[in-house]
Amino acid sequence: MAVLSLHNVSLRFGGAALLDDVTLHVERDNRLCVLGVNGAGKSSLLKLFSGEYAPDNGTVARERGVRIGVLRQEAAGEDPAADALAVILRGIPHDDHEARVELLARRLLGELRVSWQGRAFATLSGGERQTVAIARAAHFGARVLILDEPTAALGVKQTEMVLRYIAVARDRGLGVVFITHNPHHAYPIGDRFLLLQRGRSLGNFTKAEISQSQLTEMMAGGEITL
Ligand SMILES: Nc1ncnc2c1ncn2[C@@H]1O[C@H](COP(=O)(O)OP(=O)(O)O)[C@@H](O)[C@H]1O
Ligand SMILES: [Mg+2]
Repeated sequence: MAVLSLHNVSLRFGGAALLDDVTLHVERDNRLCVLGVNGAGKSSLLKLFSGEYAPDNGTVARERGVRIGVLRQEAAGEDPAADALAVILRGIPHDDHEARVELLARRLLGELRVSWQGRAFATLSGGERQTVAIARAAHFGARVLILDEPTAALGVKQTEMVLRYIAVARDRGLGVVFITHNPHHAYPIGDRFLLLQRGRSLGNFTKAEISQSQLTEMMAGGEITL
């Protein structure tokens, strides 16, 4: 059964259609990759799930009581240390902040086998911060993780670390929505792929139905023969 679904959803601002007739399902134990170039409507899709936007047409359905962990695109922005720390701080009671945050972060990093002996949070790499943010969401009981371009600002090694952790999250029974413009990041870890182009779905494929090169061609705007 789907944990989250969009059924024939359209979203408009003024005269512009940000999303047009999009249908998708997020299941447990499954990694759905949402692919599209800048402006395709990927982050708008996330905001429908978070409740920030309401659809003009169609329905957004959530399994009762399900918790969603959202890692926003902005959290990978200019000051990732401050942003990721803010992500970690949310959900922790406000007494004795620093000690609790450090304890939690150390436990999460230990789980990820990232060594953090005596290092300040600010010295963690972008990839380490992203994995902490993902682990935090799982730690606080999220059943679904929605990650908006978590690898966009990262180098090769850090990207690998984040992708590996996304794989671990799925193996622990979480549903994952991995939003990216990069088919090379999406293909190795995705179970299913939804391609967005100017707010419209170009199709929803299982891994068996599409190859990495076909996915890359579609992303580049080419027609493909499946
Ligand atoms: N609140 C908004 N009002 C009007 N237009 C918006 C708003 N948010 C996003 N857009 C526009 O909608 C399109 C899709 O944006 P977005 O969902 O952020 O795409 P993506 O994440 O795929 O880059 C873009 O052209 C963007 O400029
Ligand atoms: Mg975006």
